[in-house]
Amino acid sequence: MFPVSLRMPLEMAPYGVWGMLAAFLSLLCCRGSGEKAFEGPEQLMVGSGEFQFINCTAGCTDPKRIVLETALNKTLLENQAQWKLFKVYNISKDEELLCSSTCGGKQETKVFHITVFYPPKQVLLTLSPTSVAVGTLFTIECRVPAVAPLEGLTVTLLRGTDILCNQTFVGTALSPQDAVVTHNTTAHREHGLYNFSCEALMDLRSRGGGLIHRVSDPQRLEVKEPVPNNQMVTIITIVVVLPLLLVTFVLLYRYWWRPHHN
Ligand SMILES: *[C@@H]1O[C@H](CO)[C@@H](O)[C@H](O)[C@H]1NC(C)=O
Ligand SMILES: *[C@@H]1O[C@H](CO)[C@@H](O)[C@H](O)[C@H]1NC(C)=O
Ligand SMILES: *[C@@H]1O[C@H](CO)[C@@H](O)[C@H](O)[C@H]1NC(C)=O
Ligand SMILES: *[C@@H]1O[C@H](CO)[C@@H](O)[C@H](O)[C@H]1NC(C)=O
Ligand SMILES: *[C@@H]1O[C@H](CO)[C@@H](O)[C@H](O)[C@H]1NC(C)=O
Ligand SMILES: *[C@@H]1O[C@H](CO)[C@@H](O)[C@H](O)[C@H]1NC(C)=O
Repeated sequence: MFPVSLRMPLEMAPYGVWGMLAAFLSLLCCRGSGEKAFEGPEQLMVGSGEFQFINCTAGCTDPKRIVLETALNKTLLENQAQWKLFKVYNISKDEELLCSSTCGGKQETKVFHITVFYPPKQVLLTLSPTSVAVGTLFTIECRVPAVAPLEGLTVTLLRGTDILCNQTFVGTALSPQDAVVTHNTTAHREHGLYNFSCEALMDLRSRGGGLIHRVSDPQRLEVKEPVPNNQMVTIITIVVVLPLLLVTFVLLYRYWWRPHHN
């Protein structure tokens, strides 16, 4: 019973298993190394305009020919009896690459699904205004231009190392769009002590890609103390300080003289 129930799900969901294995291997593998030693379609995430190494491997030791079929530009980097390593470059849209080889008169093929993504190339942080008085509102805006897919993207606003807010995006569209996070907050004195920054983290690990992390340039907020004007100072002195002094003086005087009356 046990081996059967263990085997069934594996056979019923070969893609899921391969997908998991591919994701696992891509974690171990460095970025750009194409080949994993197993059959089945392979999902690859490639940054728009970037390249990908593809290792076409035959299943036998003496294959007749090994071919990589693609309309894209490619160069052959290494040519061995059992495998060929290609570099496919300038990948600008989703593609399917086909590796084929002939083993003992039988043709074998392996498909590579390439999905183009748009990594965060820039993270733009804007404080507006850049100079505020304590207690007034200011806006922090972080813009990550032309990214896709939005799903898996987290944008975090930071003050020093403190997280002010973070936002995870949704959307599987593969056309690039801007991701924007805005946060309104009241200026405190300590806001002027730390730099503000914004982090974009794109996590494509569930799709066979990697983790891409980008940080904005730090921005400083100038926090101004509310400066009381001279008139205010004078009025405060007259209204608060002088009566206080008078009362204190009177109380002290009475206290001092009380023993003489007793
Ligand atoms: C290509 O794949 C084969 C079989 O998995 C492996 O032996 C070979 O080292 C790989 N070549 C490169 C350059 O990764
Ligand atoms: C492939 O690269 C060559 C040389 O870099 C270039 O002349 C050619 O136009 C490219 N072809 C494609 C389809 O990009
Ligand atoms: C890369 O592809 C784009 C669009 O497909 C093309 O305009 C550009 O000339 C290509 N660059 C190279 C180096 O082949
Ligand atoms: C975003 O914030 C949530 C809770 O507010 C936290 O659990 C999560 O780890 C944060 N993510 C990042 C990338 O900082
Ligand atoms: C922040 O304030 C601006 C006006 O100052 C407003 O247009 C914007 O919607 C506010 N954003 C948030 C997230 O509250
Ligand atoms: C803020 O960023 C600037 C660079 O723009 C750096 O010189 C400075 O040390 C940073 N200040 C703090 C408190 O991190």
